[in-house]
Amino acid sequence: MAFPDQRPRRLRRTPALRRLVAQTRVSVDDLVAPLFVKEGITEPDPVTSMPGVVQHTLASLRTEVRALADLGVPAVILFGVPAAKDGRGSGADDPDGIVQRALAELRAEVGDDVVLMADTCLDEYTDHGHCGIVDDRGQVDNDATLERYAAAAVAQAEAGAHVVAPSGMMDGQVAAIREGLDDAGHTDVAILAYSAKYASALYGPFRDAAECAPQFGDRRSYQMDPPNAREALEEIGLDLAEGADMVMVKPALAYLDIIASVRSATDAPVGAYHVSAEYAMVVAAAQNGWIDGDAVAREHVTAIRRAGADFVLTYFARTLAEQLGS
Ligand code: PBG
Repeated sequence: MAFPDQRPRRLRRTPALRRLVAQTRVSVDDLVAPLFVKEGITEPDPVTSMPGVVQHTLASLRTEVRALADLGVPAVILFGVPAAKDGRGSGADDPDGIVQRALAELRAEVGDDVVLMADTCLDEYTDHGHCGIVDDRGQVDNDATLERYAAAAVAQAEAGAHVVAPSGMMDGQVAAIREGLDDAGHTDVAILAYSAKYASALYGPFRDAAECAPQFGDRRSYQMDPPNAREALEEIGLDLAEGADMVMVKPALAYLDIIASVRSATDAPVGAYHVSAEYAMVVAAAQNGWIDGDAVAREHVTAIRRAGADFVLTYFARTLAEQLGS
């Protein structure tokens, strides 16, 4: 007889056995729901390329966040779509800007029951759609942009954000924001840094939802180049040294190797962003009857957690929370 008589299938026999030995668990606690809020609309506006996702009004946003809180989802991240845009992205730090108004309302609605995160960037607020200030040669000016990020983060903190999440990939953005927050007395507002954010084709539907596609050029001079893995660790190290409390890898599914290496390089909480096209591809195939969308969504998030992410930003947060229970 062969020795040892190992039979891995013994532990796969029943659902309870599989549950007992599961290495990775996905719980409602791991989910962050990305939400869009648009200025000047009276009804929620569906995002065509992301079925099931809407641009919210302030009122519908409130209802959605209340529902997520009741389902036990611990966090949301807000993206604003302003009524007017300009070269410097004034809406990003306007105290009366759409995200600031939303944060204030949500803080009144849910208090500290839900972690309110705000995406800190300019692309939703600039008329050219770039994530920073564009100079007269058409380049994004790193250092001029840092001041704008710091101002936006302070406005978000003032409005009630628990966490600000810089996503523009400017060098030094975490340090600039930390300094801005501390100087304004917001030492307790945390920074979730989009540290390893790649110049990905998987953001297409988001740019419809946030109405922020660049009007010229692309984001390749500031977002990371997809072939590069080691550089992700450099970006993570810089952000942590600058004061990031949590780091993020984005997108998620096509970058599981990056998530795994970031996980082994740091003990800080690691988030991963399951982005708009990762969502849209699943929903589109499910609508065609080609896949079981709920099962694929669960498998995606399980894989992202298995790779090492502590939490996952995903447009499936609500449906997953409904399936998982809290
Ligand atoms: C930039 C930002 C983007 C996403 C999140 N923050 C767009 C971009 O970099 O072009 C994309 C998220 C997604 O695709 O779901 N503010």
